[in-house]
Amino acid sequence: RPRVLSGMQPTNASLHLGNYLGALRQWATMQDEYDAFYCVVDLHAITAGHDPAQLRERTRVTAAQYIAGGVDPERSTLFVQSHVPEHPQLAWVLSCITGFGEASRMTQFKDKAARQGTEATTVGLFTYPVLQAADILLYDADMVPVGEDQRQHIELTRDIGGRFNSRFGETFVLPKAFIPEATAKIQDLQDPTVKMSKSIGGAGLIEMLEEPKVIEKRIKSAVTDSGREITVDPESKPGVTNLITILSALTMRPVGQIVQDFEGRGYGDLKKEVASAVLDTVIPFQKRVRELLDDPAQLDALLATGAEKAHDVASATLRKVYDRVGFLQPM
Ligand code: TYM
Repeated sequence: RPRVLSGMQPTNASLHLGNYLGALRQWATMQDEYDAFYCVVDLHAITAGHDPAQLRERTRVTAAQYIAGGVDPERSTLFVQSHVPEHPQLAWVLSCITGFGEASRMTQFKDKAARQGTEATTVGLFTYPVLQAADILLYDADMVPVGEDQRQHIELTRDIGGRFNSRFGETFVLPKAFIPEATAKIQDLQDPTVKMSKSIGGAGLIEMLEEPKVIEKRIKSAVTDSGREITVDPESKPGVTNLITILSALTMRPVGQIVQDFEGRGYGDLKKEVASAVLDTVIPFQKRVRELLDDPAQLDALLATGAEKAHDVASATLRKVYDRVGFLQPM
């Protein structure tokens, strides 16, 4: 079976609707066809300052949300990145064949660094995409299901992997990004010209673990556009388009049919339906997360099993890499 690998950062207690629709939901459907590896990327979560106790808690909560979102630890390998030491080990080797200029062109880095200023920006944030390349290449992943914002990182992964192969001999599978168009970029509800994101936060963010009442309120106060027609046009109607995208993704109703159903109706009606579709997803999701967190020992045991399976694959790849690079094997 072809392989798939993906991960999310435990930087917040809750995932948001963009993480869920853009990534997590695809992960769940891909388990049937693929040999799937899903990882909580805690090493990535310390690149921009964090609280240790919170990180530990959020790592568990993130793993619980993977399961609540449909990842089945019986069928997929669910693990925590820091439990598998080969990730930073491979990242070091890859960082030595990654150009400084090449890494400097990563737009996520440039954006974050511009926001934080040079002094507050860590070297870890700069090498972040190289660690991400290691996450993927260690497992010979064929596909990486992510949102649009990760496309450049997957391209970099292919470039680095290809370079290693041509310098040291065929070693890595070069992965493809899997980014379904419809949910590639869920937008902020207050500013629908930018993507929904935890770093922006605010009232335009729908967090999966937020009080249902608050979620409902946020959807009802979403920014809509001038005019009153319910149509899809990302340029002139970004707010309405985003709401239709969300409704279509959650209900599996085609966009065209939604537009038809809302002919002659107002924005208020649309928001009401979006709110009810979101709550239909979020309420059982939250219930499942609570159940899982009630028994942290069992959750930790699942993660230990996952780490063992991941380690088997990762250590075989790293051994090969160390050998190809010319490191002397220890006796
Ligand atoms: P992270 O934690 O920022 O986001 C997790 C996933 O959610 C997707 N996403 C979105 N999709 C649609 N609309 C949005 N508004 C939206 N916001 C976020 C992201 O594209 C991502 O798929 N660098 C990665 C984590 C990572 C990783 C990896 C991913 C580390 N190693 C290896 C894949 C493979 C990140 O920061 O994701």
